[in-house]
Amino acid sequence: KRLVVLVSGSGTNLQALLDEIAATGPERYGAEIVAVGADRDGIEGLARAERAGLPTFVCRVKDHATREEWDAALAEAVAAHEPDLVVSAGFMKIVGKEFLARFGGRFVNTHPALLPSFPGAHGVRDALAYGAKVTGCTVHFVDDGVDTGPIIAQGVVEIRDEDDESALHERIKEAERRLLVDVVGRLARHGYRIEGRKVVIQ
Ligand code: GRF
Repeated sequence: KRLVVLVSGSGTNLQALLDEIAATGPERYGAEIVAVGADRDGIEGLARAERAGLPTFVCRVKDHATREEWDAALAEAVAAHEPDLVVSAGFMKIVGKEFLARFGGRFVNTHPALLPSFPGAHGVRDALAYGAKVTGCTVHFVDDGVDTGPIIAQGVVEIRDEDDESALHERIKEAERRLLVDVVGRLARHGYRIEGRKVVIQ
């Protein structure tokens, strides 16, 4: 299976996928990353892709007259690599109708909280501020909402009294990287069905 990974930041989730595929081999893992895209230049996630010798592309909102044009351009840039599965690994933009029309049902996202709790761009901070005792990470299919698509898998991470946002996010990311590598491999190797809000991996 062909994967395109979308990033916006440090790309440690991308790196976890790259490392796993290098260690296991694309055949046994069931997938290979064919390209990495971003919504901005100069991020470590793109440098990681370049170090791995992968094609990269950048699709910036401000380079397009409207959000819809950006969305269509992003869809084109992804489609050019003929992915079977698109993975948002810290991609911090909400995609629109065009992108979902083309990749809905094969576009997964990883979120650093236990959805439906604490959706959005500050899930780690929100769980901490709320005083939750556990939080975690969620890998889900992307639908037309914000972090609302069918959940594939989740991992629980404890919140400690001494945690600040970055310490907690680092602990979550350790669990998140393992979860994402496991889920993407299973989806690629076994195939899956989405039945309403349920995801069945064959
Ligand atoms: C991840 O925790 C992701 O869930 C969140 O931002 C972080 C990205 O980390 N949206 P990285 O860029 O994969 O290191």
